[in-house]
Order: sequence, then C-alpha cells, then structure tokens
Amino acid sequence: MSATDGGLADARASMTLGWVGGTDGHLLLLDQTLLPVEERDIECRTIEQVWEAIRRLSVRGAPAIGVAAAYGVVLGLQAVSGSSQGEFNARLAEVCEYLASSRPTAVNLFWALDRMQRVAGEEIGLASPDRLQRLLSEAQLIEREDRDMCAAMGQVGAELLPDAGGVLTHCNAGGLATAGDGTALSVIFAAAAAGKQIHVYSDETRPLLQGARLTTWECMKRDVPVTLICDSAAGWMMKQGRIQAVVTGADRIAANGDAANKIGTYSVALLAKAHGIPFYVAAPSSTFDMSLALGDDIPIEEREAEEVTHGFGRQTAPDGVDVNNTAFDVTPAEYIEAIVTERGLIRPVNADEVQKVLQRD
Ligand code: MRU
Repeated sequence: MSATDGGLADARASMTLGWVGGTDGHLLLLDQTLLPVEERDIECRTIEQVWEAIRRLSVRGAPAIGVAAAYGVVLGLQAVSGSSQGEFNARLAEVCEYLASSRPTAVNLFWALDRMQRVAGEEIGLASPDRLQRLLSEAQLIEREDRDMCAAMGQVGAELLPDAGGVLTHCNAGGLATAGDGTALSVIFAAAAAGKQIHVYSDETRPLLQGARLTTWECMKRDVPVTLICDSAAGWMMKQGRIQAVVTGADRIAANGDAANKIGTYSVALLAKAHGIPFYVAAPSSTFDMSLALGDDIPIEEREAEEVTHGFGRQTAPDGVDVNNTAFDVTPAEYIEAIVTERGLIRPVNADEVQKVLQRD
C-alpha cells in the first residue's frame, strides 16, 4: 500500500475517501489507523490493498466500508474491462467474494457488493468500456447517496436531543465512518448547528480507541465541546446527571430492530436504561438486514488477541494469556428508544415499525 503525503485529499467531497480519475483511476483513503497524530492518505490500486485497508481498519465504520468496497469492485475489474462478458462476470464474482471476506459484521459491505453485482447483471448488453464506467458511476452514486443519508439523519434526529445537555456516544459513527457527516455524529452536529448546547461525552472504545482517536478529533475539528471518558466511566457519568441522551451508530440491524454495534454498546444501553436515559441508534437503510429476523443471527467479528494484549505497540498483558476480542455486540430492540434513519424515525422499535419506515421513499 503506498501512502501519499497530501493529508486529507484536496477537494474531495468526503474526508474519508474518494475516487481519483476515470475508470483507470484509483481509490484514496484517509488512513484512520494513524489518527489523530497524522493525517495521511493511502492509495489503493488493487483489491488486495482495499481488502487490507478494510481488514486493518484504515477505512472503517459500516457505511464507509460499503463505499470503499464498491470502489474496490471497480479496481478489481480494470484489468478485464476489455474481456469477454463471461470473463468479466467470472472476475466480478471473484472480486465480490474476496472483498466480502474482509470483515463479517457491517452489512453495508455486502449491501454495496450486491448492488454492484446487480448493476453489472442489468448492463449485460453494454460494450466493454461502458461496463466499467457504469460500475464506477454506481460506486460514485453509492458514495453520494451515503452523504445525503447522513444529512437526512441529522435533520431527523436533531429534534431528539435536549436543548442543552450531555450526549454520550460510543466508538466513531462520524464523518470518518461514512462519506458524509456520520450517523450518530450527524445527529449531534445537526443539533449543535441548530443552536442546541450539546456537550459530547466520548467513550474511548477499547481496544482500538475509535472514540478517543476519532470521535474527539472530529468533534474538536467542528468546535463541538467534547469530553473523553474511559469506557468504564459511562455509568458514573450518568449517575452524576451529566448525560441526558445516548446516540450510537450500528453495523447491522435485524428486521426486529436489534442492533449490532461496537463492543460495549450493549453495556451502555443497559446503563442508560438503568438511569432512565434515552438510548438512540442512528443508521441509514443500508445498515438494515431484513433477511435476519433477530439480532441473534448477526455474525459477530472476532479479532486478533494482539489488539488487546499489545495495543498500539506496548505489551499490556502477560505472554500467552487467553483473550476474547469480540469486536461487536447486539443491543436488543427493547433498549432502543428510537432508530434514526434517513427515511424517518423508527419509534417504537419493533418489526412492524422497522418495516413501515423502511418502505418509505
Ligand atoms: O470496528 P469499526 O471501527 O469499524 O466499528 C465501527 C462501529 O462500530 C460504528 O459505530 C458503526 O460502524 C457505525 S458507523 C456510522
């Protein structure tokens, strides 16, 4: 993977990622593993580089993973753009299968790959150069739509937040996790822009510290007051009356509203319930998996022990210790006060309401 020193790429619409050039172009990603110390882009010119960037969390957050994968499909087909339809299709299937193996939980990855495959299937009659252009256009549309969905979630969700008060969030569901302003953070940013005096409390989010490294970075860049807390401090902050609402993102939401998100989210939802504080989830329609009836069926990623025992280069546990590094958990619908989507609010959170709101245009 080669890196460019330009920092946040000039003039691209999203700070997280962007496509450079035409069908023979490449993908630029802000390497989130380096934040907040360094702002440096990675150039991806092969699907292996995209796979690796997703796997190691250089690009992360459910919607951003989906957009990156869509561009990955274009990269994977560049070498066969002039080949026969059969060869093109075989390579398309291979590329999608490979990219789908990068991470298991965020359904946006599979949603974006399915969409790219569907478009390719619909365009079977196109001449060879147009095929790749059609796929690039679709990836660019996925990126633009994601940006629009973020803006819409901000508008829908801002009214849920108090005129003044503390809002806790877990992990990073901001611009870095999407092609726009984020999901949970879009709601917070829209409330702040509307004049609400919001103070963000950001859980640090062990073991990879997306809250500490990324959410605080984004809030500070936007001049939204933020306080970083240890994950284990959330309950005490609530008990002290500092938190009036919780908003998180999601990686996959089942048809009944059960929502998978970064490990620790379930604990935060239980704490919120115990303190009578509303717990909200913000997620675009691309994060819903209507093929799964319940959250129990959501595949949950397990990651390497070293992320826990050797976080950021320092050994913090004995050699050979047994480790469980489950990366996500599932919050049951009953603990979620409302889900903010670009199509409106799902409240109460149950299968009927999920279906009703997602069916809207
Ligand atoms: O492991 P990560 O950093 O990809 O996990 C990300 C999250 O859990 C986010 O909260 C989720 O993807 C929603 S992003 C808008």
